[in-house]
Amino acid sequence: MRYAPAAGRPCRLVVLISGTGSNLAALLDACTDPAYGATVVAVGADRESAGGLKLASDAGVATFVDRVKEYPTRDAWDLALTEHVAEHGPDLVISAGFLKLVGPVFLDRFEGRYINTHNTLLPAFPGMDGPREALEYGVKITGATLFFVDAGMDSGPILAQAAVPVHQDDDVETLTERIKVAERAQLVECVGRLARDGWTLSGRRVTIP
Ligand code: GAR
Repeated sequence: MRYAPAAGRPCRLVVLISGTGSNLAALLDACTDPAYGATVVAVGADRESAGGLKLASDAGVATFVDRVKEYPTRDAWDLALTEHVAEHGPDLVISAGFLKLVGPVFLDRFEGRYINTHNTLLPAFPGMDGPREALEYGVKITGATLFFVDAGMDSGPILAQAAVPVHQDDDVETLTERIKVAERAQLVECVGRLARDGWTLSGRRVTIP
């Protein structure tokens, strides 16, 4: 499946977050350069406390919050999230620390243009506690993975990976922070390429021309 770049306008990004939003901040900063080729049109969260919401509103970007608890079922939440994202007409949807698995309605609408950044080298250590598990396992190299989301847990086609060394004296915090530096750079670089050049998805193989 080929996704062509948006013709004559910046690529429209909707970014989903749950936390501090350091990846979002990097994207917002990159988008201030017209040559980057993308613009963040909305930021969505699953909790009011997500610090990145303020970053977005300070940058004049629309925000929305869909809390799972506010909906009678997980499917109802999935439908609402899908509609709120779709309202902003995104070309690309980015999970930047969005700590919820989306459901079938969302994937039906956005699969192939919904990407996620994860803080290990997948397929090792998927899930919520990757850096801690990598440290406990004793790996010497870990990193960050950018991938297209599918119905599994951190299991979709991989777009890019960056290796990060584990130091002998690392704790979870120091390792997580070192990964985040590489993760942000990778996210900004790769989203810019997707925005400007489009991409092709063929099974698990991703090509950016
Ligand atoms: C990122 O490091 C991302 O890899 C991680 O949350 C962080 C969000 O940071 N995601 C996961 O752990 C999901 N499995 P941020 O809010 O500062 O951008």
